[in-house]
Amino acid sequence: MATTKTAKKAVKNGHKKPIIGFIGQGWIGKNYAEDFEKRGFETIRFALEEPYRQNEDKIKEADIVFIAVPTPTTTDGFDDSIARGVLKHVGHGKTAVVKSTLKPGTTHSFQKQYPDIFVMHSPEFLSRGTAAYDASHPLQNIVGIPVDNEEYRTRAERVLSVLPEAPSIIVPAQTAEFFKYVHNTSLFARSIYMNLLYDIATELGVDWAHVKEMIIRDPMIAFQDPVIAKWHIEPAHSSGRGIGGDCHIKDFETFSRLFAETVGDEHGMKLIDAMKNMNIELLLGSKKDLDLLSGVYGKDILKRKTKVKKAARKSAKKAGQKLRKRA
Ligand SMILES: NC(=O)c1ccc[n+]([C@@H]2O[C@H](COP(=O)([O-])OP(=O)(O)OC[C@H]3O[C@@H](n4cnc5c(N)ncnc54)[C@H](O)[C@@H]3O)[C@@H](O)[C@H]2O)c1
Repeated sequence: MATTKTAKKAVKNGHKKPIIGFIGQGWIGKNYAEDFEKRGFETIRFALEEPYRQNEDKIKEADIVFIAVPTPTTTDGFDDSIARGVLKHVGHGKTAVVKSTLKPGTTHSFQKQYPDIFVMHSPEFLSRGTAAYDASHPLQNIVGIPVDNEEYRTRAERVLSVLPEAPSIIVPAQTAEFFKYVHNTSLFARSIYMNLLYDIATELGVDWAHVKEMIIRDPMIAFQDPVIAKWHIEPAHSSGRGIGGDCHIKDFETFSRLFAETVGDEHGMKLIDAMKNMNIELLLGSKKDLDLLSGVYGKDILKRKTKVKKAARKSAKKAGQKLRKRA
């Protein structure tokens, strides 16, 4: 759809480099700000931590402001209030690019609330373990615009021109928002399926290490990248079984609610619920990320009796021990 060449050329041909602002200095904000500074951009960073707190008013001077603040999912659903609130710091006529994960439709509603700025969405795919590298080497740059006209396209091109080089695309904001859920929930589904296969393998006495090695060599199952090919095959990732981490639990819940609100067919809903419940049981069984689990589903979730079979729990423990030994 869009190429970044025109805008990149404009920056190279002596057009003044835009000042880049960041609201949020966590995993995304900090690593992106550092990458921009290394590439010679002037930056202004604002966040709740010191020393960035004092820059609340200065952010207005930034031409393009990247926003990476929490967007939790709780028992009440998707919560965009922090991202919505910080948009007030962006200067009149400037471009705001929300990197936080957004439920489809949110950018539109942000834009409606703040008609004097230009709001866009650029989903982020970095992993915590490789955050600095990922921020400098994005898999792709996606910029979602809420209005398809020349002004928004020119500004989106400008955003792409300042991001690290990567295959790029400009799409409607809702498409960009949706793609983040395509990415995260595909990995979630893969992990759940691998867990099912792992349980059968354990019952059969099949060594999962052998299965893993063969998956990695099989281009019809494995991801093509040799590093990524190993991800999401290991049933006991980090401290135990279950798909944990800040993003996966909350994003799968928002995806589940989105499916219920939009498609909502019985079999699809049953499949999604089964995946969700299997993951909850695996996390409860391994006592992993219980704080994140209760943040999304409420404290009562911790009282749920886990039905994970004894054998599966035993094998989970064994897999966890093996992993820890290797680490
Ligand atoms: N961490 C990841 O691996 C990852 C990957 C992809 C997408 N995401 C998404 O990106 C978003 C941010 O994630 P993160 O991990 O970088 O967050 P984080 O929790 O590491 O950092 C959040 C930052 O936001 C700031 N902040 C919070 N409230 C604020 C306010 N009112 N005003 C100004 N600053 C405020 C905090 O001070 C902090 O610097 C979330 O939507 C998350 O789902 C995260």
